[in-house]
Amino acid sequence: MAQREIVRFGDETLRKKCSEVTKFDETLWSLLDDMYDTMMENNGVGLAAPQVGELLRVVVIDVDDDNGRIELINPVITMMRGKQTDSEGCLSHPGKYGYVKRPAKVRVKALNRYGKPVEYTGTGLLARAFCHEIDHLNGILFADKVIEWIEEEN
Ligand code: NI
Repeated sequence: MAQREIVRFGDETLRKKCSEVTKFDETLWSLLDDMYDTMMENNGVGLAAPQVGELLRVVVIDVDDDNGRIELINPVITMMRGKQTDSEGCLSHPGKYGYVKRPAKVRVKALNRYGKPVEYTGTGLLARAFCHEIDHLNGILFADKVIEWIEEEN
């Protein structure tokens, strides 16, 4: 178990476009394991590598469904269908939530930690997580897409 520090909103790292992964080695596996630990420890459902300061196209997701832990290397969205609008947050933007429009159904093609092709189809929260995390790899944040912020309670 190792956690990494989460890069917060306002840091320029989150605005950079990430590079494709070319080496599927222990360095990548440690990054994936640390990202998963960091995400779980912070009660997140997804985390992208730039959020721990690594400008690589790496994503981890776990929406507590049958897929369990999803690892996406160099992910590409191959299909989007329908629309959904729901509340969304981000571990780089703690305490902030807002409504974001996303596709209702999304298919993603990627590589796993060994460089083998994988494919996932998600609806609802999983579709949302695919879009949110892949946006991170291109320097796009959910805050850019919020149509209405949710008032904080305090
Ligand atoms: Ni995020």
